[in-house]
Amino acid sequence: MSEDFEDRAREALAQPKNVGEMNDADSVGTVGSPDCGDMLRMWLKFTEKDGKKVIDRASFQAFGCQTAIAVASMATELLKGKTPEEARLLKPNELSGDLGPLPPMKIHCGQLVEQALKSALDGKDAPAKPAVETLAGNLHTEPPSSGKIKIVPFVEDAND
Ligand code: FES
Repeated sequence: MSEDFEDRAREALAQPKNVGEMNDADSVGTVGSPDCGDMLRMWLKFTEKDGKKVIDRASFQAFGCQTAIAVASMATELLKGKTPEEARLLKPNELSGDLGPLPPMKIHCGQLVEQALKSALDGKDAPAKPAVETLAGNLHTEPPSSGKIKIVPFVEDAND
């Protein structure tokens, strides 16, 4: 991983944006990576601007690597004001925003965010609320059949 990307990701992790469940969300999407076992859930709230449906707010919860959390934090910021069609076209390297392009080994972390976004965009306007309230609840009720789950705290000590 390039030093610059690492520095920017560490900065984003120090104060991640839009973390947590959105109680008034219009849509929600959850995905898991079969490769690494990481999971990401994204909530979207829409509004209307100039006669168009646009994303008002986005939030996320993650049991994933630091890169996935950093990208999700960036993505939830840059989704504001985008139409669902515009949001759907965003690629992992665009969702990473100010972090810059993802190092090749981290592309799949950005893809996890991309897939969570698409899953949320595919959701219904009045979302079926997940049977469990949090990803932690999901892990307790639906143990993964394979792979290992890494639980990464949202705020990391930058000294390691
Ligand atoms: Fe699994 Fe990054 S290592 S999402």
